[in-house]
Amino acid sequence: MRKRILNIFKAAKNKKVLVLILLFILIVSFLVIWIFFIEPNLLIVKNLTIKDPELKGIRVAYLTDLHICQNEKAYFLKLIKTVNEQNADIILLGGDYVVVDMFMNKTMEAKEIAKLLTGLKAKYGVYMVMGNHELHGKSIKILSENLKDSNIKILQNSNVRIKIRDKSLTIVGIGDFTDRRHNIKKAFNNAEKPIIAFTHSPLIFKLIPNSVNMTFAGHTHGGQVYIPGLGPLAKPRGYKGIYNKGFYEKKGKTMFVSSGIGCSHLKARFFNLPEIVIADFK
Ligand SMILES: [Fe+2]
Repeated sequence: MRKRILNIFKAAKNKKVLVLILLFILIVSFLVIWIFFIEPNLLIVKNLTIKDPELKGIRVAYLTDLHICQNEKAYFLKLIKTVNEQNADIILLGGDYVVVDMFMNKTMEAKEIAKLLTGLKAKYGVYMVMGNHELHGKSIKILSENLKDSNIKILQNSNVRIKIRDKSLTIVGIGDFTDRRHNIKKAFNNAEKPIIAFTHSPLIFKLIPNSVNMTFAGHTHGGQVYIPGLGPLAKPRGYKGIYNKGFYEKKGKTMFVSSGIGCSHLKARFFNLPEIVIADFK
C-alpha cells in the first residue's frame, strides 16, 4: 500500500516536472519569435508633447537609425507613407541609414537608400545628418551626391533659418560625436533662437549651447534588447549608465533620445518598438 502511494506521488511529481519543462520551452520559443521576428517589425508612431511657447504649433518628425537592409524596400516604403501621413512641418533624419554589420543580411546600397528617402515629404523641408554607420565605405559621399538636388537638405554641422507659418526658427544639424565629426562652432554659426538641433549621438548633449530649445538624438537603439530588471543588453560603447532613450534635461536644456527604427548586428528588439517620433510643440 505504502509503495503504491509513493508511486502515485512519483508519477505526479514527474508529470509536474514535465509540465514545467514544456511551459519553459513554450515561453522561450515565444520570446525568440517575438524578439527576432515580431517586435523588430512592429513600427509605432511615438507622439511627444513638448511645452515651448517659442515653438508653439510646430510639428516635428524625427527618424533615426533606419539601418535599411537590402530586402526591406517594401517595409520602408510603408514607413515613409506612415511618416508622410503625420503631416509634420519638418522631418529630421538622425543618421545610420545603412547597416555595416548585420548578421545574415546586408545593407541596402546607399544610392538606393537615397532614392527611397526622397519619398519623405514635409511642407517646410526634410533635413539630414549622418550617423556612424555612414562612415564605413563611401556612404556619406554617395548619399550626399545622390541627394544634392533633391528635397532633402543635408545639415552636417550647418544650420538653416526657416519660417513655419508665423514663426521663424533655426534648424541645426550636428555631425556625429561618436566619431568626432561634430563641429559645434560651425553648426551654430549665426544661429538665432528659437533653435531645434538634431544629431546622431546623444553624447554631444554636454556641448549643446543653452540657447537651444530642443535637441533630438538617436544612436543607442534603446539597447535594442531591454530586459526589465536587467536593463538594456546592447548599448554602444561609451554609454554605460547614461543616455538610453527618452527625455534628458541638463541646465535648462532638453534632449529626446529615440530608440530608432532598425537594428545593427542582430535583427532583434525587446521592449524597444521601432518608432517614428512625432513631436508637437505646445
Ligand atoms: Fe544605429
